[in-house]
Amino acid sequence: MIFYFSGTGNTRWVARQMAEITGEKLFFIPEELNGGMQYHLEEGERIGFCFPIHGWQPPHIVRDFIFSMNIDNAEGHYCYCLCTCGDSIGLGMNMLQRYLSKKALHADAMVTIQMPESYVALPGMYTDTPEKEKLKIDNATLKIKEISPKILNRESFEDIKKGPIPWTLTHIVGAFFNGKMITDKPFRVDAEKCVHCGACADNCPTKNVVLEDGLPKWKHERCTACLACYHHCPVHAINYGSVTKKRGHYYFKDK
Ligand SMILES: Cc1cc2nc3c(=O)[nH]c(=O)nc-3n(C[C@H](O)[C@H](O)[C@H](O)COP(=O)(O)O)c2cc1C
Repeated sequence: MIFYFSGTGNTRWVARQMAEITGEKLFFIPEELNGGMQYHLEEGERIGFCFPIHGWQPPHIVRDFIFSMNIDNAEGHYCYCLCTCGDSIGLGMNMLQRYLSKKALHADAMVTIQMPESYVALPGMYTDTPEKEKLKIDNATLKIKEISPKILNRESFEDIKKGPIPWTLTHIVGAFFNGKMITDKPFRVDAEKCVHCGACADNCPTKNVVLEDGLPKWKHERCTACLACYHHCPVHAINYGSVTKKRGHYYFKDK
């Protein structure tokens, strides 16, 4: 079984490929959080976790899911974690390993896969150029080809890009970011520009956006600040504070 979270589609693309390669079933974490979260593995079945890095840490929704779920026969089953990122993940995988240990799970394989950047809500943060986007996706395709035989053979390995000063990024900068900046409060819609298409609500992975009189309204429930609502707006009517007014849009085009 493969548990995954994805905001703008990068990780969904990775997780779907792993499901095809391993023949194992996909579970979308936001949907699972509404159910019983009790799982039973088939003989020899692998456990996969796929998620994007958010502020050099696993997203809160992934942590909350791991703490709430229960796999009744996990012992002895191979477990792997694939983390997508725009650049690097600091000590994000160490955090995930700690979360897993609370459920007597242990990741045998841990991999980072660089994908196009989705976070644009801080000064100095931009979407990638089309050339860089393509290069990252081409490299990610090669990386999935390289790691999938190892995962099929249940190998233990690490292929992680931590980046510079990983402890500081995860435990100082990331702790501040995840504590204060994962919120839907800065989202605004320009009612004059909005074309009432509903793409924002349709693409919110946690169903935190609803339409009221045709305009998006953020419910202040379970927002991951993935920016999917912003990125999917076809007319740039949605912004996150003022920084995104001069930023581009990105989401993985696989639908
Ligand atoms: C809130 C947020 C925080 C992010 N933080 C990081 C980060 O710390 N390091 C990094 O390399 N990329 C970071 N990114 C970029 C994403 O990890 C990357 O684009 C990922 O592939 C997005 O996956 P998704 O499309 O499945 O949501 C961040 C993106 C978001 C939305």
